[in-house]
Amino acid sequence: MRQATVYIDSNALQYNLNRVKQLAPTAQIVSMVKANAYGHGVKDCLAALADSDAFGVACLEEALEIRALGYQQPITLIEGIFSSDEMQIAVDNKIEVIVHQQQQLDWLRAHKDAYLANDLKVWVKLNSGMNRLGFKVPEIIDVINSLKAEGFSCVLAMHFANADADNHPLNDQQRVQFLQVKEACAPVMGSCCNSAAIYKWPELNFDFVRPGIMLYGASPFADKTVHDLDLKPVMTFTAEIIALNSIQAGESVGYGSTFVADKAMDLAIVSTGYGDGYPRAFPKQNYVVVNGQPTRVIGRVAMDMIAIDATGLDLKLGTEVELWGQNRLVDDVAEANGTIGYELLCRLSARPSRKTK
Ligand SMILES: Cc1ncc(COP(=O)(O)O)c(C=O)c1O
Repeated sequence: MRQATVYIDSNALQYNLNRVKQLAPTAQIVSMVKANAYGHGVKDCLAALADSDAFGVACLEEALEIRALGYQQPITLIEGIFSSDEMQIAVDNKIEVIVHQQQQLDWLRAHKDAYLANDLKVWVKLNSGMNRLGFKVPEIIDVINSLKAEGFSCVLAMHFANADADNHPLNDQQRVQFLQVKEACAPVMGSCCNSAAIYKWPELNFDFVRPGIMLYGASPFADKTVHDLDLKPVMTFTAEIIALNSIQAGESVGYGSTFVADKAMDLAIVSTGYGDGYPRAFPKQNYVVVNGQPTRVIGRVAMDMIAIDATGLDLKLGTEVELWGQNRLVDDVAEANGTIGYELLCRLSARPSRKTK
């Protein structure tokens, strides 16, 4: 059997969840498990994250999967529902919605009695400058105050566009608007912190924090590693060596013959490629770790295979190579590929086998 394997470390997930608890001790934790738990596999991740106060997902299908697996915690649809018929399903399954535009308010109001009877909160999204979803100031103040007057229990929700950046002017604008609306609608619950904001602005944790990437042990910051943040990588992606070769100076490797050896060298061929979700672009030199040692990826990444420099490494057929994990951080692989850890984790294909410990 072809060996490309994704290992999920449940203890690391629990460790990272505890880090959120340390950093935001008074807030409820809405663990973001959208996109199949950032590519980690929602079923096993939910088991490890069962101590979360609530879960956050991007659509009704993801929420229903959580219910089907038997979890009873509140679930928030962070983009709300996408059609009126989804509202009844959300209510029946005790799923909370965000409202970010008028049509969603109408759908909510059409199901008001059932929504309130099920004791569901409504999350109202502030657009404070990210300009994707939400009501702007001052409209949102009317929206929240009207919903409150109708008996709804509201959470003022906002998402920072630059929580990972130091001194971005939009951070101040977003924070100020959030606080302004919170005061104008007082008392109202609040939620504006993702992973980066949980680290940066403990004073903004309020009632609910919404950690995503930090739970999975990748860094929200370009200039801080998960080790700096005291987080543990949850996913280790490995593949096995399936062939060993030697080439002479002047010989090339792989599609496009982009790599030409300048001296004699040994190669190991590893059973992974972009068909598994291992990225192909690599504008910078990329590395894997084998037997605890970093070594170069050589030539182009193909659909099913990569070549690595095996010179002086005494590698064997069947040796497991770490593509990312504890020793080769997914954030570093992403950086070499001109992207972010989030994307590499989410775009793993279904092909690698999965093992949870
Ligand atoms: C509304 C919202 N909250 C929280 C998160 C979690 O963000 P992060 O993974 O950076 O912690 C996301 C992720 O995209 C989001 O869209």
